Amino acid sequence: MTPAMQALFPDVDTPALMLDSTQVRKNIALLQSRADAAGIRLRPHVKAHKSSHIARLQMEAGAVGLCCTKLGEAEVMVANGHRDLLITSPVVGMLKIERLLQLGRAASIQVVADDELNIRELASAARAAGVDIGIVIEVDVGQGRCGVQPGPRAAELARHVISSGALTLAGVQGYQGGLQCTPLFSERSIGVRAAMDRLAMSLEELRRAGITVPVITGGGTGSFPIDIELHQLTELQPGSYVTMDATYTATEWSAAGSGPPLGQPLTVLASVVSRPTRDKAIVDAGWKAVSSDAGVPRVKDRPDLRFEFAGDEHGAIVAMTGKLGLNVGDRVELIPSHCDTTVNLYDKFVVHHAGRAEAIWPIEARGKSQ
Ligand SMILES: Cc1ncc(COP(=O)(O)O)c(C=O)c1O
Repeated sequence: MTPAMQALFPDVDTPALMLDSTQVRKNIALLQSRADAAGIRLRPHVKAHKSSHIARLQMEAGAVGLCCTKLGEAEVMVANGHRDLLITSPVVGMLKIERLLQLGRAASIQVVADDELNIRELASAARAAGVDIGIVIEVDVGQGRCGVQPGPRAAELARHVISSGALTLAGVQGYQGGLQCTPLFSERSIGVRAAMDRLAMSLEELRRAGITVPVITGGGTGSFPIDIELHQLTELQPGSYVTMDATYTATEWSAAGSGPPLGQPLTVLASVVSRPTRDKAIVDAGWKAVSSDAGVPRVKDRPDLRFEFAGDEHGAIVAMTGKLGLNVGDRVELIPSHCDTTVNLYDKFVVHHAGRAEAIWPIEARGKSQ
């Protein structure tokens, strides 16, 4: 047993999602200052932290608005006073379009679209409701997810938006999520440049058609240092940079091979509940407490320990070399491999400063997947 581990947040019940408020503020300030220095607007994505409080910190730091993936996230943000949102995934079908219009009555709402029928449906609903919705045409810049293919299609859809008379052409989105966590900077950089070249094919067609594109949006935490160099995007939408995770921390941030200048405020606090063998401790955090889609979490400050999933509610901490140094009742902090899917498991962040829990920040958009 190490005394430091036994003493970890004794007043906090486990498993708990912990957040270092100082580091959160540092991460927010760092990316904002770099975007400001590059003259690029920051519209952070809330899909990772899902917290209106953190969104407020981002807005106070200088963000121009927020991005959400789901209407449910946007509804939470609007209910908590946020008034400028981009929904970065298509909103399809009248069930959802009605909710979108409801949001548009209270806030400035933009939504991504990549389909003519969807644009027609949005236009007739917006016209009937007398609500202004901004449309951002999505171009598939290489991820193979949503978006029209690079080339003339974006301009064709933009014409439909403009000629509808009921919608506003707000911009173009090109997001390459498949590259964000590419560990080698050189490889990621080549990929991001290729993605921006694909976006440029659509932008050139829009220019030729005489269509003004107010905003060119995209980018994530991993592409951020490349995006600000390339200067093709006029708005950036990183999300994970606030909380970070073990996967992002392991990526290179520069051609020189340095890691991200962002700290790691997010951890899962777990307690040792059993000590079955000399080199193994069982903690009260399994698949229901820390996500596994990007691999196992790391044990904070203990590179000599390995985490293994041991069920829905259990994890095993195994000593790889030397002593385990853990007894029943001790605490460990786990660094999730993927922040988005781990945060979505919790109702609240236990926020701490200087080693003491000081506040609860609700994760109001947790589970809002509709
Ligand atoms: C469209 C879009 N933009 C931005 C982001 C933010 O990326 P990250 O959390 O890696 O910064 C995501 C994340 O999945 C996304 O889907």
